[in-house]
This record gives sequence, C-alpha cells and structure tokens, in this order.
Amino acid sequence: MAGDTFYKEIRAAGGAYKWHCDGAWRESTSGKTVGVSNPATRAREYEVQACTQAEVDEAFAAAKAAQKGWARTPLWQRAALLHKVAALMRDHAQPMADCLVKEIAKPSKDALSEVIRSADLIDYTAEEGLRALGEGALLTSDSFPGQTRNKLCLVSKVPLGVVLAIPPFNYPVNLAVSKLAPALMAGNAVVLKPPSQGVVAGSHMLQCFVKAGLPKGLVNMVTGKGSEIGDYLTGHPAVNCISFTGGDTGIAISRKAGMVPMQMELGGKDACIVCSDADIDLAAKAVLKGGFSYSGQRCTAVKLVLVVKEVADALAAKVAAGVEKLRVGMPEDDCDITPVVSESSANFIEGLVEDARQKGAKFLTPYRREGNLIWPTLLDHVTPEMRIAWEEPFGPVVPIMRVASADEAVAHCNANNLALQGCVFTRDINKAIAISDAMETGTVQINAAPARGPDHFPFQGFRDSGIGSQGIRNSLAMMVKTKSTVVNLDKDSYASG
Ligand code: G3H
Repeated sequence: MAGDTFYKEIRAAGGAYKWHCDGAWRESTSGKTVGVSNPATRAREYEVQACTQAEVDEAFAAAKAAQKGWARTPLWQRAALLHKVAALMRDHAQPMADCLVKEIAKPSKDALSEVIRSADLIDYTAEEGLRALGEGALLTSDSFPGQTRNKLCLVSKVPLGVVLAIPPFNYPVNLAVSKLAPALMAGNAVVLKPPSQGVVAGSHMLQCFVKAGLPKGLVNMVTGKGSEIGDYLTGHPAVNCISFTGGDTGIAISRKAGMVPMQMELGGKDACIVCSDADIDLAAKAVLKGGFSYSGQRCTAVKLVLVVKEVADALAAKVAAGVEKLRVGMPEDDCDITPVVSESSANFIEGLVEDARQKGAKFLTPYRREGNLIWPTLLDHVTPEMRIAWEEPFGPVVPIMRVASADEAVAHCNANNLALQGCVFTRDINKAIAISDAMETGTVQINAAPARGPDHFPFQGFRDSGIGSQGIRNSLAMMVKTKSTVVNLDKDSYASG
C-alpha cells in the first residue's frame, strides 16, 4: 500500500522530519535540525528536529496527563488498539523498510523482515497482555501463624506511569516496539528517544501508533543529539521506567537513574564453543550466519569462536569457504555484507583488526575496506593478548581462538563482563547442559547461533550486559508494579474453633 499520504504529516515543508508531542507532529522551536548520514554513500540523507530541553518537558507532561486515562482503559480496548497498530505496520511496511536501508544500511530483505517481525511482536504482546495482566491473586490471612481468615488480600498489577524507551541503531523499529507495545499494553504512556541513525524509520513506526487512534499524548517522540538531550531525558523527574538497548552508555544511565525500574541490554561478547564431537558442518553454518548477518552488528552476533584444537582446522576451513561466498555490497542489492553504520564504527573495527594483526593473528580471509564497507574477515589463532579476544567489533570480523578443552573455553567466556549469550556445539546433550550451566551468560544456545528471538523468549544479559529480562512476557511483567488491596472483615466472625 502506498505510504505517501499516510506518512505525509511527519515531514515539514522543507523535508525535515518532525518530532511528536501530545498528538501532533511539530517542528522544533530550536529552529535547528540534525543530519542523518547514509552509511553507504556517507551523504546526508535526512534531517530531523533538534529538540530542546523545554520540548522534552512538554513530551513528559503530555505523557503524564494521557497516562491517567489510559490506565483506566480496559485491557481489551488496549489490545484492540495494538492490533490496529500491527495491521498498519504491515500495510505501510515498505517505506519504513526503505528508511532502514538508507539510514542503517540494513539489507533490503532483512529491513522488511524487521518491520513484519515487529508487527508480529505487537500482536503477540496484545494477546499475552490480555491473559497475563488480567490475572491477579487472592491471599487469605489464615495461612500465617496467629491469624484468622478475616483479611483478604487482592493482588493486581498496575502501570508504572511514563516509560522512557531508548532503542539502538541496529533495530530501530523492532527494539522500539519491543518497549512500546508492553509499556502501552500495561497501561503506561511512552516518551521515545530513537537512535540518531534509525530515527526516520522510528518516525514511520510511530505514525502507525498515532494513526491507530491511541489517545493523544500517550506516545511522544523527541529527536536530537543524545549529547544535548540524553542526560536530560534519562534524569527527568517524570520518568517512571527506563527501557534501554545500546552500548555502555547504559552503565552511566543506570548509575544516575535513581529509584526507577530499569530494563537494559548493553551488548555481548557472544562466544561459540565448539567441542570435539560437534557436527562441524552445523557449527560452521552457525558461525557464518551468526557472525556475519547484518555485518555482525547484532548484540547476539557470534563474536568469538572457541574451538577445541582437534577440530579447529576443519571448522576454520569450512567457515572460510562460506565467507568466500558472502556477497559484499550495497543494502539496496540485499548483499550479505553491507557498510557498517558509521565511519567511527569502521575505524574502531579496523583498530581491533590491526591490533590482532600486530599480535600474530592469521588472516583466513584478507582484510579490505572501502569507506564504511568492510569485507568479511576471519581471523584464526587469536590469543587472549589480543583486544579482539575480549571486545565486541560490532562489524563483519569473526575471531577464532583454539583451546585445549571446553573447560578452557568456558573460563575465557566467564572472564568477560559482556555476558549476553553464548552457544555450544556438541552431539552429547549431557555435555551441552553441563557447559550451559557453567557458562555465566543470560542465554546459552545448544547447537545453534545466539539469537534473541522468538520474541517471547526471555532475553537478558548478565554482569555488564544488562539489567532485568526482556522478551514479551518479561517486559509486560517489568512494566507494572504490584498493588495489594486488603479487605478487612469482621474479626469476630472468623474466631478460630
Ligand atoms: O542487537 C541486539 C538484538 O537484540 C539482537 O537481536 O538476535 O534478533 O538479531 P537478534
């Protein structure tokens, strides 16, 4: 379906994208815009509003006012509106996906899948919310020593208030709706701060919420430089919950946030452990897909292969053969490897590769870079002295470290603070479970690459990788608080005996 009229109001006459507050798309009173570069062409592709701190205040005020009525809106009505949002996202998916291609160089098919996955996530959240939030508990006092049955405790779930949602550049639609949908279903209002790249796709997504007919002020979106409004947003007194996905900025946010529930996912150094009895074809395919999908710019990407020496040559050869076949080029052509999100990101990746080269890593595929486009790079004989053994490249570079045993692999994995996911390849389920138990990461995949989805599975990082747990059910549970109402009956009626 054509997106022209549907999306028309989100842009100003000059073409810059507007911010959204209290039911209206607006231009900022700052009179300034911020440019969004296309990672592939490195030209300015879009302009968005540079919101002021006063506009941040307005967004929170609108959210706070709208939330009062929304909290009293029946669950079935909230669910019906969310289903409408999901339908609009499917109907208007292509223009949103086109933005993902231009803003973050996501391959065109993956861009469209991100939008459809997001619509599915919203539908599922609406259904899950109906069941999970429609249930409470009744406790009677007589199970506690010395009490009679005269007290009845009614336990229910009530909204937190205003949720600040901050998604990352790599899933600006999907990781926005994974915050917005549970927040709204649970009766909260939202202020969204989209990532600097991904902001235009985020604006398209928000329009689906607006057009579905949500009450005005319930969803608001402020845009601009994180360096100018970021701290102001996260420290705002009207924030009742922060849901953040991104880099280590999250650690600084969590230190400053105070008495506010937080849900955070801050990346991972996801290790792939390959045992001597592994199905090497299966492991090689997983390393290839897990390491190089979206050019490695996923928090769940395979970021280190820890393979036992006996099978290391076989695995390395199979992965290298697969890397040769990856298509390198532009996102519009749906290539496997596309330019990374920014020049600074490309420079960081290159720094890790150069460090590994100087310290003796063996290049199974040659390193090559043109602008932000980095060819897929497979490094072997990586050692713990190399930065790439510990740091996330967030790019198309996969290091292989040869280990004497699975125990050595687990020890290396557990010495890293970025403990999001990991995976293990073995034909022995007993060994797989033992390794999973020993790995101190939020999730361990057995015989498959790390991944967040399906989106109702719990998703969490340990140590510096996150706070709380995501996934649809856990996000719904996190975005409410428990309320007890105690009915005190006539004590004499309940005298024992
Ligand atoms: O980048 C972080 C995402 O949560 C990863 O999601 O496993 O679906 O790619 P994914």
